[in-house]
Amino acid sequence: MAAQISKTPRRPALMVLGVGSFAHSLGTALADAGASVSTYLTRNYGHYSPALVGQTFSHDAFPSPVPLLRKHQIDAVIPQSIDWALQPWAADLIQSGVGIFSPVGEAMRIERERDFARALCAQFQIPFPKSFVASNRLEAEKILAANPQPFVLKNPLCSPTSPIHTVMCETVADTRAWLRQVNYAEGVFLQEYLGRAEAGHIALVSGGEIHSLVTNQEYKYAFNGNLGIVAGAPLGGLVERDENDKYGLARELIHPLKPWLRAAQFSGPLQVTAIQRGGRWHVIEYNIRIGVTSGPMILRMLKNPAGVVLATARNEKLKLEFNPGLNFGCSLTLAGYGYPFTQVRGPHLPLEVTGELDCDVWWNEVAAGAEGNLVATGQRIADVIALAPKLEAAIAQAYANIRKLRVVGSYYRTDVGQSLWPPGAV
Ligand SMILES: Nc1ncnc2c1ncn2[C@@H]1O[C@H](COP(=O)(O)OP(=O)(O)O)[C@@H](O)[C@H]1O
Ligand SMILES: [Mg+2]
Repeated sequence: MAAQISKTPRRPALMVLGVGSFAHSLGTALADAGASVSTYLTRNYGHYSPALVGQTFSHDAFPSPVPLLRKHQIDAVIPQSIDWALQPWAADLIQSGVGIFSPVGEAMRIERERDFARALCAQFQIPFPKSFVASNRLEAEKILAANPQPFVLKNPLCSPTSPIHTVMCETVADTRAWLRQVNYAEGVFLQEYLGRAEAGHIALVSGGEIHSLVTNQEYKYAFNGNLGIVAGAPLGGLVERDENDKYGLARELIHPLKPWLRAAQFSGPLQVTAIQRGGRWHVIEYNIRIGVTSGPMILRMLKNPAGVVLATARNEKLKLEFNPGLNFGCSLTLAGYGYPFTQVRGPHLPLEVTGELDCDVWWNEVAAGAEGNLVATGQRIADVIALAPKLEAAIAQAYANIRKLRVVGSYYRTDVGQSLWPPGAV
């Protein structure tokens, strides 16, 4: 009889495909939970903070992450955005058998192609605003003439580098004006404007089941009072632990997709953003990521985030356990000079931490200066995140900490939590 070999399970080895606060926050939460973490730096900024968590590999030095995955015996990767699937190494990554914390193939279309999401909702009778795709200005103007109502203008194909970032139009005249200006290189997706009563819900799909995680809100308008433009990434966010789907968003907008999720062999995160109108939630977008804003809060809420990420990446059955007490999270973004207008650039500016920080602070466009000091290198500087049993406590703690960060010309919203919560409120 063979001798009994006692086998200590190896720590999960996870690699983030991303940069900045995404890699810093997820990497730290996973490392704190016992994983060994590294980052494949997919973009050319935000390289400083991922290196605080583990080894980093830049895409310049390593044109493909796949040899690194073998060499470092990586169990699963966590992509920041869906554009990994367009890289020349995407097929190799899928072939490699390494877990991917994202759906792959056909299942990605629910985020990538807005009109595909619309068609899915039609098929499963999920409310979705009236929407059209136009390939040029003439077509778009014809659609507006035939449907004289305000439309939000979006990229038909989602990618961090899309020529169009969501443009809010609240009247027909707004829409007409913006249709003169948008870049039609990839066409335009016109989606009926549904007002402001927005909320989101994030679930994990794995082993053929849907597991609710949180209901969330993102503060996407650049300025206090939800004024200004919808920024490229939110200025703040709230999450509420919600495994029982108390607001019904998963029941109404995610569960009806089950036959498609199974057919497309979907496994990974699934997030819905929705707007309530006439007493019903309407899908405005699906995402297949846990995201820069909610992701770090979700991983902190889970008891065993590394195990959950790995099991989901392998499409295994999940048994979610939450850390007692961490029911709410608040995320605040410190925005730098020029934000939200990405055309504006400033110099590298000194970043001072003026007091002891007592919640999570994740550096995004931050680098180490010559004297070991920190410098802000771009328009999204840091995300400050607090979790607490009560919403008010999470918000207060995040504000107490963001006030300790100083960069000249930077700003943050001071009213997160004062509108748009609970879900359905404006
Ligand atoms: N149809 C709509 N009606 C009203 N507001 C919308 C609509 N679509 C998008 N928005 C607003 O714009 C934000 C961004 O749109 P979204 O579809 O989520 O695209 P992305 O996140 O890719 O920019 C939403 O969170 C919401 O605040
Ligand atoms: Mg969105």
